[in-house]
Amino acid sequence: MNAPTTLIGQVTNFENQPDLAGNLFPVGVEVDDVSLKVTGQIPEGLRGSFVRNGPNPAFQPTSRYHMFDGDGMLHRVNFNEAGGVDYSNRWIRSRGLVAEAKLGRAVYPGLSDVMNFPDASLVGDAGPVKNPANTHIIRHAGKYLALWEGGLPTEVSESLDTIGEYDFGGALKGSMTAHPRLDPRTGEMFCFAYSVFEPVIRYFVVSASGAIVHSAKIEVAAPVMMHDFIITERHAVFLDSPIVFDVANLGKGPMVQWRPENGTRIGVLPRMGSAEEIRWFEIDPGHVQHFWNGWADGDRIEFSGTRFEHPNFGIDPTAPLDETAGDDDPPYPAKFWVDLAAGTAGWELTDDLGGDFCRINDEFNGVVSQYRYMSSAIAPDRRLGDFDSIVKYDDTDGSRQVWNAGPTGHVGESVFAPNPAGTAEDDGWIINAVFDSATEGTDVCILDAHDIAAGPLARVHLAHRMPFGFHANWFSA
Ligand SMILES: [Fe+2]
Repeated sequence: MNAPTTLIGQVTNFENQPDLAGNLFPVGVEVDDVSLKVTGQIPEGLRGSFVRNGPNPAFQPTSRYHMFDGDGMLHRVNFNEAGGVDYSNRWIRSRGLVAEAKLGRAVYPGLSDVMNFPDASLVGDAGPVKNPANTHIIRHAGKYLALWEGGLPTEVSESLDTIGEYDFGGALKGSMTAHPRLDPRTGEMFCFAYSVFEPVIRYFVVSASGAIVHSAKIEVAAPVMMHDFIITERHAVFLDSPIVFDVANLGKGPMVQWRPENGTRIGVLPRMGSAEEIRWFEIDPGHVQHFWNGWADGDRIEFSGTRFEHPNFGIDPTAPLDETAGDDDPPYPAKFWVDLAAGTAGWELTDDLGGDFCRINDEFNGVVSQYRYMSSAIAPDRRLGDFDSIVKYDDTDGSRQVWNAGPTGHVGESVFAPNPAGTAEDDGWIINAVFDSATEGTDVCILDAHDIAAGPLARVHLAHRMPFGFHANWFSA
């Protein structure tokens, strides 16, 4: 099935679809904008691309729409060699979207009705479930991979053209997390996948050259949604939290349920360990969607993430439509630890400011790091996930810096772009796509990572709005 070279979005309204309201409403065109207007000064060493992934449904949804459902769209803000900035956006031409484009309408249901598979006569070889590849974008072993945790990675070109689903030369049979961990020292990539049906986590390691060189099938208590994990120089560390899939409940109530009675465990596996080598450590029930970083110091492992006490991602097709999609209680920054010698583990909250989109300077993935970045809502009336501020934590003295984007500012995920001439962990820039609900425009803001409270050094004014999305990355030139 040939992918259409041009796609025009057909979503016309957000009636009864809270997840299409405001800046969640998709854009309908693909553009290539050159010589974007910049206020301020683009730093001299900033050369490369800020690429962000997110849902952007091409066709009017057939059922109740959840933000997790939308066709992936990549937005690339390229700081070019001439010192200018250009922008492109492209839908990821998944097999499902290509089939829908041929029909001129959506036929794949969203999460609310996911088992109501489209008729094979409509979608042909595109399969029963669409892989929207809408969550993250990474670069590993020379490949750009758009990620969605329910399916295979989707390879795209540097200029955002879809190449197709990527299975590591046939070695990956199932899905892959949208949050693999890359070790910048070895070049390896560490991955896992969960199953909606089976109580297992499939862990695997990809070599620096892009081959799957190790895997382990780890049993957990139930089919759980596991979104992220951490690595140390020696371990892969999982949080098995009781956010459980109940496929049998589909259509009758929430498919994803919070079952604190199942308990929560930290699992520690040697990087190249077999499933039998995993050690589990019980802690209080809680869920972490995103981790910052972790490391091992002798027998002690420490890691940090934003912790939900009662996660609710609003995946309940039976809930009234006028309710917000999820719980209003945000996750809070927390530190976790495991003492391998004593066989103990624990956690504590490290701030009372809720937030998410945990990021670090990725050069420090798996080793001791000092700085953590987060998106947060300081204003009390923001919906869960609608952030107005960027926060930087300094773990040597527990201090934090905040840049608030103002009452009409909406920040996305921060990405750390290292200064090639730098040596310190925070020698570099924070890049964030900030939507202004007053002007309905998006500025890509560049902040000095040393002093984020000072606000943007430069603002790139996009000629076209960038809808809210999920994760972004920096790809140096
Ligand atoms: Fe994520």
